[in-house]
Amino acid sequence: MSSLPELRVGVVGLGWMGQVHARALQRLAHHYLDAPLRPRLVAVADTVVDDRTHRTAAALGFEDVLTDWRHLVARDDLDLVCVAGPNLIHRDVGVAVAASGKHLWIEKPAGRNGAESREIAAAVEDAGVQSAAGFNYRNAPAVERAKELVAAGRIGTVEHTAVRFLADYAAHPDGALSWRFQDVAGSGVLGDLVSHATDLARYVVTDIGELVVDAATFIPERPEAVPGAMHYERGGGALGPVANEDYVNALLRFVDGSRGTLESSRVAVGEQCAYSIEVHGSHGALAWDFRRMGELRVCLADDYQDASWTTELVRPTDGELGAFQPGSGISMGYDDLKVVEAHRLVQSIAEGKPVGATVHDAATAAATVDAMLESARTRRWVAL
Ligand SMILES: NC(=O)c1ccc[n+]([C@@H]2O[C@H](COP(=O)([O-])OP(=O)(O)OC[C@H]3O[C@@H](n4cnc5c(N)ncnc54)[C@H](O)[C@@H]3O)[C@@H](O)[C@H]2O)c1
Repeated sequence: MSSLPELRVGVVGLGWMGQVHARALQRLAHHYLDAPLRPRLVAVADTVVDDRTHRTAAALGFEDVLTDWRHLVARDDLDLVCVAGPNLIHRDVGVAVAASGKHLWIEKPAGRNGAESREIAAAVEDAGVQSAAGFNYRNAPAVERAKELVAAGRIGTVEHTAVRFLADYAAHPDGALSWRFQDVAGSGVLGDLVSHATDLARYVVTDIGELVVDAATFIPERPEAVPGAMHYERGGGALGPVANEDYVNALLRFVDGSRGTLESSRVAVGEQCAYSIEVHGSHGALAWDFRRMGELRVCLADDYQDASWTTELVRPTDGELGAFQPGSGISMGYDDLKVVEAHRLVQSIAEGKPVGATVHDAATAAATVDAMLESARTRRWVAL
């Protein structure tokens, strides 16, 4: 048994993300031998507690299963709480976690809107606890490398950036009318995918200053979900109205004067996790696509015209690849990005200062989503 100090963890919501957080914390020491704290999964709370919940919780190593998150947050044997339930509960749970003096790992979008995200960020600030927000795509080694190349001026002055986050998870008209499609989510593809997309653009390039957006809902009704249905399941109930947008298309002006486009859809037939960023500078360009996570396409031209692209495979020295694989060309997976996120959070807890994406980044993404909703409604440019 390790003699490291324990980090006693509670998780709220044992769906997809709750399980990914739990696995990431359990795997931390496998990848980071020098991790300063040893996570212990003490308790999980979920409103649906059935045989599957108990078996999942036991397999992940949880000691206790509760049905009410308030009982979990009130416990005095926890140091960190992961908020991995639907957006509707983020604010109440996130604020309560921080107010109880516990560190917070919260999934994006961290609330249903900018006001809720700001409340969570303020509670974290007031309590002096550390936080992490679930912007996992910035943890990909190729994204870290892209950020470094941009910052070092290797593509010159950034001129324009294209971000596309296209998915087909809601393309089937029988896809369940889960919380994601209802008012309780706050927004649709904006909170779900665009919050990631804007964070990625900010991380690699810079802050967005102004935007104009067109939005659409292509599937206005869906069958109601059966209780406990997961993200990708079909509905089985009566048809109900979809309350939020399936698709957005935006023009962006970044604060450095560069321009951008951002397109995102949850109903894009043929697109599975087509999450990409392409940055063009005055004498170079680079491009990354999540589906080829370990590759960065670069055009580091010696001349302005007729330059060709090459594909770099990330090296163990790029980002955190070395903690996962010994050489280039050996892939990391989605869950690994969450191990990196856990690592950065644990570092921030040990050092008492933020490392990696925090609730403040979530508040920025949420403010951007708010601005996009306003622009789609008013059909005007909105400044951030
Ligand atoms: N970072 C990412 O890449 C990523 C990916 C997917 C989802 N997310 C975010 O993670 C969050 C959860 O999404 P998911 O896909 O895991 O959803 P999910 O539907 O798979 O899981 C949500 C879980 O929360 C439980 N739950 C609902 N209400 C609860 C309550 N009041 N108290 C405790 N548990 C409750 C549900 O029973 C379910 O088990 C969302 O905010 C989503 O935006 C992030």
